[in-house]
Amino acid sequence: MAEEAPQSVVRRAEELRRQLNYHNYRYYVLDSPEIGDAEYDRLFRELEELEAKYPELVRPDSPTQRVGAEPLEEFGTIRHRAPMLSLGNAFDESDLHAFDERVKRHLGLPADEQIDYLMDLKVDGLAVSLTYESGVLARGATRGDGYTGEDTTQNLRTVRSIPLRMLGEDPPPLIEVRGEVYLDRREFARINREREDERLPVFANPRNAAAGSVRQLDSSITARRRLDIIIYGMGASEGVSFDRHSEMLDALEARGFRASPQRAVCHGVDETAAYYQRWLQKHGELSYGADGVVVKVDSLAMQSDLGQVSRSPRWAVAYKFPPEEQTTVVKDIFVSVGRTGALTPVAMMEPVVISGSTVQMATLHNEDEVARKDVRAGDTVVVRKAGDVIPEVVTVVTGKRTGNERKFVMPDKCPVCGADAVREEGEAVRRCTGIACPAQINGRIGHFFSRGGVNAEGLGPKIIAQLASKKMVRDPADFYFLTKDDLLKLERMGDKLAQNVLDAIASAKHPPLRRVISGLGIRHVGGHVAEVLAEQFGSLARLAGASEEELADTPEIGPVIAQAVAVFFRQEQTKELLRKLRKAGVSAQPAVAAPRASGGAFAGKTVIFTGALSIPRSEAEAMVKAQGGRATSSVTKSTDLVVVGDSPGSKAEKAQGLGIPIVTEDEFRRMLEQSD
Ligand code: IVH
Repeated sequence: MAEEAPQSVVRRAEELRRQLNYHNYRYYVLDSPEIGDAEYDRLFRELEELEAKYPELVRPDSPTQRVGAEPLEEFGTIRHRAPMLSLGNAFDESDLHAFDERVKRHLGLPADEQIDYLMDLKVDGLAVSLTYESGVLARGATRGDGYTGEDTTQNLRTVRSIPLRMLGEDPPPLIEVRGEVYLDRREFARINREREDERLPVFANPRNAAAGSVRQLDSSITARRRLDIIIYGMGASEGVSFDRHSEMLDALEARGFRASPQRAVCHGVDETAAYYQRWLQKHGELSYGADGVVVKVDSLAMQSDLGQVSRSPRWAVAYKFPPEEQTTVVKDIFVSVGRTGALTPVAMMEPVVISGSTVQMATLHNEDEVARKDVRAGDTVVVRKAGDVIPEVVTVVTGKRTGNERKFVMPDKCPVCGADAVREEGEAVRRCTGIACPAQINGRIGHFFSRGGVNAEGLGPKIIAQLASKKMVRDPADFYFLTKDDLLKLERMGDKLAQNVLDAIASAKHPPLRRVISGLGIRHVGGHVAEVLAEQFGSLARLAGASEEELADTPEIGPVIAQAVAVFFRQEQTKELLRKLRKAGVSAQPAVAAPRASGGAFAGKTVIFTGALSIPRSEAEAMVKAQGGRATSSVTKSTDLVVVGDSPGSKAEKAQGLGIPIVTEDEFRRMLEQSD
């Protein structure tokens, strides 16, 4: 059935890959797109369709391969051609001078010689090696022990700033490109917010989050985390040679890689010290965490003369920023109540400036954590920003205790509404049980309208709290009934602000379904789970009516989430909220063409296509959706049906192993016809 692609199609696919890779580079590396999203999507879909029709056209450098592949059982290993070394550290200016003197001594140069150093920032992420063969990304690996790393090719392919194919003509036959993969502060915060919503443990810092994302057996999870890369060097290579490190980075940049935009060549050690001072002041302003600067001898001939000692090169050193720690005094420890009723102890401190911003509050997480650190009101404490981002109390300076400090006692009543606060067995968190707890109500409303929810920009926590305290709103639906006169009753509310608030609310009247679902604040349901549910059920009404079994049958939805969702929609309070939202004219937009209201040949079924079909795969998938089903790309035990075309791949084998029904394309068509 699989026809061979005509030459014109082969050429078109090649042209599309080239264009898409170029526009990807404009967007993710240069941050300066030439075309809009819609145009990009159109090119992308065209390539997708060609590849679905002629699977032999799928190439490793096709941008369609960035979305993640089938989950792995375990990572393979990759031996680095040139080892990935680590760096010696310098902590102050005398260490820096000692390094400079060592370099000159080894090279037999006079002490007053000015060496050229290539400087860049030490990005706080994890090191990877990318092997390009004839310009195409062939393998990607973590550092591992420096000699052998983990084969994380599938995951690294999902990083948009990693070129799948180098730019330019005549690429070298082989080159290992080395760089640091990281998450910027915003993305780190977003991932942790989502994990909090899904009740998963949060990552302590962006570095751990980046490492956890790259070392994911399921690359579709990696694809959802916006990882980035900065290139800082090269390992083994064939067919290229440079005189200077800076020249090599310029060449890599011209090939489409993202080298550090802050890099600079400094002449002599004094200039390197000035570079360090500048970034010591300014690194807090970067969009990502940097824990120092790296000083490298720029001449590659000198680098090779200098060689290495144990596992660090003699030609480079990491000059670290001092840990961003300050001491301050805890004025008080108060307990904040979140929308889920969780009681969180928070340290209120005398304000201190840490890497460029003022810190005066730090979460102490839960009562066990307070006890473990033994933090008391009145204590002098050391604070830092975890991974340069989240303020945390590192330790108490017990030597400064006077005896007047007050020990913290976790209340067993909610400090906001007075209801019992209960800590369930096996949980670290104590929760308020009050049904009408204002903290929970405000938190839930705030969450509904937040960026993680329906995203009504301009409706902030202050206004919500004002309206709630006047009992003008009790749930998110009430907001849609507010008039300007209502708002003008609030203190410090003028005509213009009132109009802005009304506009913000109106803008959230037809939000995407996934946003409404995540905005409801159902236990264990964060942004991603909400998206899965939106795709599967297509409307709020269908989701609300789904049984626990139906929910648990949804891919990626386990029994715990299924139960939480079912329990949520069974509650009177939820039913009332949905009724009111409907009455207010709030209607959610389904993410994809909504499945047929009832039934359909594939209602509630997950279908997978493998091998070459006679129609574009996207079309076949649309047919499944139109019949109430869901088309996914990886075979799991919740897959219901596998449709095989010509020369099916490993998916068919896997399905067979799992005992999942397998049908041919003809049989699939008959199933469709029967339903009409
Ligand atoms: S140069 C010979 N430059 O720091 C090693 N490393 O402590 C050459 N790192 O494993 C490394 N940013 O993961 C270099 N601008 C930068 C860096 C950088 C982060 C990491 C890298 C390396 C570790 C060494």
